[in-house]
Amino acid sequence: MSRMGQRACGNVILIGFSATGKSRVGGEVARRLGWDFVDTDDEIVKLSGKTIPRIFAEDGEEHFRALEHRVLKEACQREGVVIAAGGGAIVNPQNRELMLGSGVVICLEAKPETIYQRLLADTEYVPNPVVRPLLAGANPLERIRSLKEARQPFYAISDWTISTDNLTIDEVAGEVVWGLRYARRRFMGLYGEGEASFEVVTASERYPVFFGWGLLDSLGEKMRRVGLCGVANIISDEQVFLLYGNRAVKALEGAGFAVGSMMVPAGEGTKTIETAIKLYDWLVGRHAERNHAIVALGGGMVGDLAGFVAATFLRGVPLVQVPTSLVAMVDAAIGGKVAVNHPKGKNLIGAFYQPCLVLADIQTLTSLPKRELISGWAEVIKHGVILDQEHFEFLEREAEGLLRLDPEITTQAVRWSAALKGKVVAEDEKEETGRRTILNYGHTIAHGLEAATGYEHFLHGEAVAIGMMGAAMISERMGILSLGVVERQRKLLERFGLPTSCTGVDLNEVLKAMELDKKVTGRAVRWVLIKGIGEPLIRDDVGLGEVKDVLEKLVIG
Ligand SMILES: NC(=O)c1ccc[n+]([C@@H]2O[C@H](COP(=O)([O-])OP(=O)(O)OC[C@H]3O[C@@H](n4cnc5c(N)ncnc54)[C@H](O)[C@@H]3O)[C@@H](O)[C@H]2O)c1
Ligand SMILES: [Zn+2]
Repeated sequence: MSRMGQRACGNVILIGFSATGKSRVGGEVARRLGWDFVDTDDEIVKLSGKTIPRIFAEDGEEHFRALEHRVLKEACQREGVVIAAGGGAIVNPQNRELMLGSGVVICLEAKPETIYQRLLADTEYVPNPVVRPLLAGANPLERIRSLKEARQPFYAISDWTISTDNLTIDEVAGEVVWGLRYARRRFMGLYGEGEASFEVVTASERYPVFFGWGLLDSLGEKMRRVGLCGVANIISDEQVFLLYGNRAVKALEGAGFAVGSMMVPAGEGTKTIETAIKLYDWLVGRHAERNHAIVALGGGMVGDLAGFVAATFLRGVPLVQVPTSLVAMVDAAIGGKVAVNHPKGKNLIGAFYQPCLVLADIQTLTSLPKRELISGWAEVIKHGVILDQEHFEFLEREAEGLLRLDPEITTQAVRWSAALKGKVVAEDEKEETGRRTILNYGHTIAHGLEAATGYEHFLHGEAVAIGMMGAAMISERMGILSLGVVERQRKLLERFGLPTSCTGVDLNEVLKAMELDKKVTGRAVRWVLIKGIGEPLIRDDVGLGEVKDVLEKLVIG
């Protein structure tokens, strides 16, 4: 697997001082991953037919180190093994090179006092205390301390370090599997080059996003490639699970996962803390551990809810987003915002929590109710309007193919749109720099429309489409946008079946819900406007009169 200039990440190599648990942890990690386990000390004993103290006594340390290098080399050349390297192996630069070229290097740490205690007493880490060479001599603790100190710079080559002082072997093994996943994310080349549609790279995370027609069947395999293994817990809604649950379960089981699944009722009403608690109960009942992944299979409601549960259960378990609605594919699953609703407001309780993988099977859009699909196109068009003229033109040109969900064209459009959002998220993961604000284009009015109608009249995308018209019209009135562009946007929205105005909504309620009055909110509304396609700008000097005038044209009677 190793490529020029890239680190392979096939194996896990455990390094660390004596009594940090490399052998026992290594065995347990191998069991959990379903991989082979190689303990270099055991291999040396097998190879030479002598115990290690005898090799040292009869043949000398140099001979031992040569044997160690040989067995390490053999192990590192294999694929999918967990290797426990002898405590002193890392001192040799050739060994270090072998390890780094072979996989993820994880260092098990312990304080000198802990090591001393473990060597003295019968512990999980050293089950049969024998008088080890380290304990011989006048001041064994001091010896451990100085030898460890001398090796510390070499341990620093590791990709991940785990302090084992207060952990059981089992817990350390869990941390290794967890660390493996994180460390691997830092490497390029863990999936084939160009295979992932794109990567989202934020300050804290990096993860691949796969978009493709019929991709669901490769879910398990893709998850394994980002270092997930063992247990996968699917959370889905009843409608989506009925359609795609079996395929997802099969794909996961085929890749060796033990699968659990939980369905929640479909619909926004399910996105509550009460449902989250039910999901926690279910996970506790399943004895879910920190490295058991949650797979969110469904639209944005499921993605937000399951994502919120993943972010909070055991302070965070791996999350895999498998969006099945257009909104989820281009918006909800990209960006790491997860939340549940509060009776007083949508998404009031939430977190930023990035998934380790997003896999979107575009084919699932063929079963999405028509109105939901149309609503999703609003966010796609929005991404074009604010971020990329070329994308906007692509939508204009290919509208016909997109409307009949042509596999190739649709995959291209959806992937492109999601990547545009991914880029904004990468620049402003936690809404700190303001860059992410531009994604709110059309949303100031949309939120007003939704709130004024109790979130029942409009689908989100429908309200956004009207809001986009409002934002464009305000831009035009402020003299920064030509009427031609306003009409171009209207034409495209309408081509996709989206509304660009509405009737039967109380204008005053909308204005109230928008909280435009500075005296009420204490701060000016920051409007996302456009100067042209792909040219957003943020203004906080939009007059109330302007907004009212525009809304009167959009909200008719
Ligand atoms: N986290 C974010 O950044 C973000 C962004 C946008 C929206 N959201 C959230 O996303 C939610 C809206 O997402 P949504 O529009 O996907 O809603 P949704 O998840 O409720 O899905 C809409 C309906 O479509 C059904 N469905 C989904 N995929 C299907 C498929 N392939 N075939 C048949 N039916 C399918 C669902 O069962 C549901 O009935 C809201 O809760 C919103 O707050 C979050
Ligand atoms: Zn939106």
